[in-house]
Amino acid sequence: MEELRKRILEEGHALNKDVLKVDSFLNHKVDTKLMYEIGTYFKRYFENKGITKIFTIESSGIAPAAMTALQMNIPMVILKKQPSKVLNLDVCQTTVHSFTKNSDYELTLSKKYISEADKILLIDDFLANGEAALGVERLVEGIGAKLEGIGIVIEKSFQPGRKILEEKGYDIYSLARISKLDKDVIEFVD
Ligand code: G4P
Repeated sequence: MEELRKRILEEGHALNKDVLKVDSFLNHKVDTKLMYEIGTYFKRYFENKGITKIFTIESSGIAPAAMTALQMNIPMVILKKQPSKVLNLDVCQTTVHSFTKNSDYELTLSKKYISEADKILLIDDFLANGEAALGVERLVEGIGAKLEGIGIVIEKSFQPGRKILEEKGYDIYSLARISKLDKDVIEFVD
């Protein structure tokens, strides 16, 4: 997505070889027009795949996921990050490790908002190691539903997430794919 690449180059800031700051339009201040455009791209790619619900993970996935759900006219569900397991039979949980933040959380979903018949599209802001997506897979498959596709705003292609998820057969559509980051260096996959 050309406009997204442009914004990443103009406003993004590579902190180091691993982390890109995009606080001015995605992670802190949110450009809702850009998010709407992003939703248009995801809709175009996923609209004929029988998706019934969009899942995202709090918090930065919410804006692009909401715009996609609005345009696809299907519900959006926000998976919560709880600090610890809860004793509640109405929710399912799985532990996710974030390498970027070096911490664990309990990815949490109410069973009320998913059924066996659902075909889920996961939309998230970043793909790094794929741990969050693998957590969503565990929850969705635990219910007997299907993770049908994964839409990512910014993929860090030099990290292993895409490869791990592709090997599992997932259809991953990323709007910007970054091949290299370094202090003041941002390069894209061709
Ligand atoms: P993974 O799911 O692909 O394994 O990613 P990882 O756990 O490593 O990433 C954890 C968090 O860090 C996620 O945010 C993710 O969006 C964010 N993140 C990963 N790489 C980058 C990066 O280069 N730049 C920025 N700005 N964020 C990155 P989160 O914990 O879900 O928090 P939130 O921002 O959505 O609230």
